[in-house]
Amino acid sequence: MAQSGVVSEYRRLNRANWDDRAPLHAASADYALDRFRNERDFLSEVVRFDLPKLGDIRGLRGVHLQCHIGTDTMSLTRLGAEMTGLDFSPASLAQARKLAEETGTAIEFVESDVYVAVEVLGARQFDLVFTGIGALCWLPDVKRWAETVAGLLRPGGRLFLREGHPMLWAIDEERLDALTLGYPYFENAEPMVFQERTTYVSADRALSETTTHQWNHGVGQIIGAVLNTGMILTDFTEHDSVPWNALPGRMIHGDDDEWRLLEHADRLPLSYTLQARMP
Ligand SMILES: C[S@@+](CC[C@H](N)C(=O)[O-])C[C@H]1O[C@@H](n2cnc3c(N)ncnc32)[C@H](O)[C@@H]1O
Repeated sequence: MAQSGVVSEYRRLNRANWDDRAPLHAASADYALDRFRNERDFLSEVVRFDLPKLGDIRGLRGVHLQCHIGTDTMSLTRLGAEMTGLDFSPASLAQARKLAEETGTAIEFVESDVYVAVEVLGARQFDLVFTGIGALCWLPDVKRWAETVAGLLRPGGRLFLREGHPMLWAIDEERLDALTLGYPYFENAEPMVFQERTTYVSADRALSETTTHQWNHGVGQIIGAVLNTGMILTDFTEHDSVPWNALPGRMIHGDDDEWRLLEHADRLPLSYTLQARMP
């Protein structure tokens, strides 16, 4: 990774990277699109993990921010919510719409940057904003994200976020001998600039759009941003697992499809669930 002062191009670079990844993800076993097509009650492993905390979402009007190829969005629909998925990557949304069509599922997919979701979705207010698992790291300003969430929720509406933990994002994944901090923990104005030819699923070709700009946000900054909007925090739980192989060579895949540290799993939180509601 290299640090850089260039912030202005993050949207163009990141969108090109996600457009490049989308068909690879749709074709990968990890996203299990065939199971969605062939098993009417199949849920993504992310949503399966979230289920105990999500509870009964039947009849809720929900929006999934940064929905990617729509597998979590579809899972929430299968649980009975009426979902809208929002993402800025047209290639991701093309895959999401195709899957919805193939499975006869009614989901609205909207192309938009997260930060303008309130304007784009108009006066609609939602019972549920769902997001996470590699979403916040693409956004430079967590306060602006929280204000967007608050602007989308009706009074009494709920935010459900499960995300990679900022302590995990700060670990140097290349140092296999020890858990070493290699990246910022706190949100910086400057992005972290990465050049990577691979994505987090196995794929039959390398990426051609290799540059991404990402940001970390500390726990206090995330919770503070949520509280600053007037939302009430109802749950903050740290987990010893994540749904992807975040530290290759040091993780073990469990029966619940989550990845945990092979050694000293009690030393590092890997993901968290944050829930909040509008008063
Ligand atoms: C890892 S996916 C998160 C979704 C989900 N965890 C999954 O794996 O399907 C990240 C998504 O965020 C989207 N994204 C990144 N920056 C965005 C932005 N500024 N506005 C809207 N979507 C954005 C990308 O296009 C991508 O689809």
